[in-house]
Amino acid sequence: MTSATHIAVAVEALVVSFGNFKALDELFFTAAYGEVRGVIGPNGAGKTTLLDVLTGRSSASSGRVTLDGELDLTRMNEVQLALSGIGRKFQKPSVFEALTVWENLDLACRRHRRSLLREVFSTAEAKDSEAVATVLERIGLQRHRNARAATLSHGQKQWLEIGMVLAQEPKVLLLDEPVAGMSDDETIETAALVRSLRGPHRAIVVVEHDMEFVEQIADSVTVMHEGKTLFEGSMQNARADHRVLDVYLGR
Ligand SMILES: Nc1ncnc2c1ncn2[C@@H]1O[C@H](COP(=O)(O)OP(=O)(O)O)[C@@H](O)[C@H]1O
Ligand SMILES: [Mg+2]
Repeated sequence: MTSATHIAVAVEALVVSFGNFKALDELFFTAAYGEVRGVIGPNGAGKTTLLDVLTGRSSASSGRVTLDGELDLTRMNEVQLALSGIGRKFQKPSVFEALTVWENLDLACRRHRRSLLREVFSTAEAKDSEAVATVLERIGLQRHRNARAATLSHGQKQWLEIGMVLAQEPKVLLLDEPVAGMSDDETIETAALVRSLRGPHRAIVVVEHDMEFVEQIADSVTVMHEGKTLFEGSMQNARADHRVLDVYLGR
């Protein structure tokens, strides 16, 4: 490490129960600013449940989840979490098919600004289109700005979805299986996009089945198994870890 790492999200001994079943069983997890953190693990390991807690969709039975070492995320609802800087791209599409790329992004930017309630209407207009243009460029869809979302390829729609989350200016960007269903070319482009979104004021967490994709994009990985953290470190070390090999690579 050449510089101190600043932890964005810290999860400590987190338990999430569904009846008698613990989907998360004393889970420990961190994601730092400036990094892309991959989260891998077999089906049912609890990856999506982790994202659900971070976004207020599931509640913690016990344990601690903090943002910037202080904000207690387990006490916040979905809206408060989004306003605190937690942004999530879901697997299921949520773009408006009948609207253009630009209109979708414009909506997301306006929604964000409105929710912050800090702009007077007249100046918000100009800033909105600036913000939309910035996001449009980040996701590389400038040429398609006037295309209806319905006409986009699967990959382009996913990038638009990422753009709509970026409109919230999240500190913590959560991506649940971002390359599911994508072609090889789209997967490569998505890897480049995710890498380009890294920055000192953003932590990116990518939940993914595709190990090769994770290896390409992640600075570090957390391997989950049965609601617990089995391994945390580099992908290279994960591949050499016998516990990881046993549970994940199916030996
Ligand atoms: N709402 C729920 N009610 C009951 N069980 C659930 C619920 N959500 C998830 N689970 C269970 O928790 C475990 C972890 O699920 P999940 O977080 O989706 O795993 P992953 O994303 O790693 O595949 C699974 O056994 C799943 O069946
Ligand atoms: Mg899942």
